[in-house]
Amino acid sequence: MIEASHLSKVYGLPPDRALPLLTDERRHEAVRDAGGFLGADDVSFTVQRGELFVIMGLSGSGKSTVLRMINRLVEPTGGRLIIDGRDVLAMAGDDLRELRNRRISMVFQHFALFPHRTIRENAAYGLKVRGVPVKERLERADWALGRVGLGDRGDTRPDELSGGMKQRVGLARALATDADILLMDEPFSALDPLIKREMQELLLTLQAEDQRTIVFVTHDLNEAMRIGHRIMVMKDGRVVQCGTGQEILSSPADDYVSDFVADVDRSRVLTAAAVLRPPLLTAGLPDSPEDVLRRLGAAEMNGLFVLDELGCLLGVARDDLLANAVRNGEGDLRNCLVQEYEAVPVDRPLVEFCHLAGRHTVPIAAVDEQGRLLGVVPRAAILSSLASPKKVTAHA
Ligand SMILES: Nc1ncnc2c1ncn2[C@@H]1O[C@H](COP(=O)(O)OP(=O)(O)O)[C@@H](O)[C@H]1O
Ligand SMILES: [Mg+2]
Repeated sequence: MIEASHLSKVYGLPPDRALPLLTDERRHEAVRDAGGFLGADDVSFTVQRGELFVIMGLSGSGKSTVLRMINRLVEPTGGRLIIDGRDVLAMAGDDLRELRNRRISMVFQHFALFPHRTIRENAAYGLKVRGVPVKERLERADWALGRVGLGDRGDTRPDELSGGMKQRVGLARALATDADILLMDEPFSALDPLIKREMQELLLTLQAEDQRTIVFVTHDLNEAMRIGHRIMVMKDGRVVQCGTGQEILSSPADDYVSDFVADVDRSRVLTAAAVLRPPLLTAGLPDSPEDVLRRLGAAEMNGLFVLDELGCLLGVARDDLLANAVRNGEGDLRNCLVQEYEAVPVDRPLVEFCHLAGRHTVPIAAVDEQGRLLGVVPRAAILSSLASPKKVTAHA
């Protein structure tokens, strides 16, 4: 959908100045020596249709510069930008206006609501500039307000709304348009943590329903991890890493990324899939209790999962119950099973199930939608994955 290659932005110098071909650090210096500033340097990324792509980095790292180059609010100095197969940097006149006003909508941290207009009129503003007739745009605005939970507030004025609600109007304004790309520049940064959480949830819900393509800027890695399908980490105008939250968490590219990662609540990002192990032993119904007991003993285990022929969980065979069964001449494993286990979907975050670890003789089972055992999550695997990797610091 969006394909950016080698985008760069030099502020404060004539656009035809070529970027010096130097190493990264020297390039910054050279541009500065010439009286300019290198805001974005050799930035390449692609955003899939329907993806929620996050640009993350410290203040001044070039996030807004990159975001605004997407609709050419900031004119790139070099590179290529393709949106839906069309070369954006070659666009002019009507084409460019169409891209900016129809295809793409922007949501800012501080966007101006018109104080003397109703919430409905404010939400309809994006359509007004697109020339949509008044009746239609007010209807669209009402629809969009409904989607952000302000359906009954259309007639009120902005000063009657809290900060979080105002931000919802901003979101409604973007939703009311039929733009299929939303650019969001730290839209939730000024909100209280609880309201911020609420807005993130709302954005995720709207995103799942609409499948719009969203590029979202934040300096908060927790936020990035919570909402981003993929995250691009920026530093000094350059891309230092791009990947899923789990990828960035488990292998940060450098110390800059590690520093961010240290503050992340790993239990919310890592899922059962990230800590999955193959089960050491399993059994099937044709196996005899005696045989299963022997295998358990040899592996020094107290219990195992019993699966049907498709790999679905039937229950747990515990060594003490098996021993009883063998003593009583019970030959059918089916009669020895207990339902003493916890099963979770593989995509469940650790935070939602780590308290279940260690309750039973068997580890937590990670299952697919059909209930098939994909692997087990031992308590030790959870604990070790939650401990952040130590940063290696060089000593002088
Ligand atoms: N119009 C401009 N002129 C000169 N420098 C700018 C301009 N806009 C941004 N910069 C500089 O470019 C760098 C990146 O800015 P920006 O993209 O806004 O970063 P971020 O959004 O990550 O905080 C900053 O050092 C900023 O001072
Ligand atoms: Mg910014």
